Amino acid sequence: MENKKYGFSTRQIHVGKMKNSAGALCDPIYQTSTFIFDTVEQGGGRFAGTEPGYVYSRPANPSTNTVEAKVASLENGEEAMAAASGMGAITACLYCSVVAGDEIVADETLYGCTFAFLSKEITQLDVKVSFVNLNDENALKAALTDKTKVVYFETPCNPTMKLIDIEKVATATHAFNPDIKVIVDNTFCSPYLQRPLDLGADVVVHSATKYINGHGDVIAGFVVGKKEFIDKVRGIGIVHMTGAVMSPFNAFLISRGLKTLSIRMDRHCENAMKLAKYLEAHPAVEKVYYPGLESFEGYEIAKKQMDNFGGMLSIELKADKATTAKTINKLKLCTIAVSLGDAETLVEHAASMTHSTYSAEELAAAGIPEGLVRISVGLEDIEDIIADFEQAFADLA
Ligand SMILES: Cc1ncc(COP(=O)(O)O)c(C=O)c1O
Repeated sequence: MENKKYGFSTRQIHVGKMKNSAGALCDPIYQTSTFIFDTVEQGGGRFAGTEPGYVYSRPANPSTNTVEAKVASLENGEEAMAAASGMGAITACLYCSVVAGDEIVADETLYGCTFAFLSKEITQLDVKVSFVNLNDENALKAALTDKTKVVYFETPCNPTMKLIDIEKVATATHAFNPDIKVIVDNTFCSPYLQRPLDLGADVVVHSATKYINGHGDVIAGFVVGKKEFIDKVRGIGIVHMTGAVMSPFNAFLISRGLKTLSIRMDRHCENAMKLAKYLEAHPAVEKVYYPGLESFEGYEIAKKQMDNFGGMLSIELKADKATTAKTINKLKLCTIAVSLGDAETLVEHAASMTHSTYSAEELAAAGIPEGLVRISVGLEDIEDIIADFEQAFADLA
């Protein structure tokens, strides 16, 4: 299917579809570890890349290739590589971007395990990582050196919804050195709301566990970018280093989930805006962190680079940590759980859960308040979601 001719919703359904012998509407699940060769010579040719066809499902499988084609198209990228998890995608991508002696510049506010990987793990391989506020152009310029190979960030950031201007960071970084890879984690937006490659980024990474799959039944990730780089991440990062490949069954589930990405995201955004406005007006709420509120610091950046404001928001209550926990425990419909982007509304306390890899000092430096509660607004009726918060907050107001 030609890529650019069709709209987003058409591509999320049709791109990557394969012809199959039974004529099934839905692609079969190629649940196989290996592929048959007619002869030893054919096998050798496939290994060498001189013969077409599949070899073994760690490097490539038809089910994963289908979903990779979809995600590459939706992100307006040349190619995509599927991984077993968001962290599988992020680590394979970063391992292929640096060697000992190189440097990475990253924003201070990141998903907890990404922060742990950058601050505690990759540093053991003699890779230096500087954490700066990437909205401060002078701080970015001061952190870039001749050894910098990667500038890495999320926007909106997990869990504060801090917005980072993708175009500004990419322009400043590439003006310093066009070979530095600007890598953006686009998990919170999905390609329906934001396409970092169109704004000057070189690589996009995803936890497809979230909106891309959208149904809370899969752990998965993607890396999207230029063919040459994706070939390297696939051929070395996944095949030789992490081995973190997506299973054919998960690829099938994600292909299925992707068919409804645009309509799911529309409803996530609509519900989140209504909940954000309700919470902003609630006397027990100190602050609402939502890109779509005019009162939010990142509002102008959100308007510039996102097509809508997303389904994620965070709040601080006018209460101490213990009272905040007690209040959240009273929710009946909304579920206390990490992860996000599912049909169910999920609520979590960042400092205790997703960001427990940050020390108290690191939380302060990243601007993550101790009492921050993150909400992934689901697809339930918004009146029911609001009523649940109303009853949980009853003793606070
Ligand atoms: C922004 C972001 N990036 C990456 C990840 C890691 O993804 P996974 O859990 O699929 O490994 C997460 C997980 O919550 C996340 O929120």
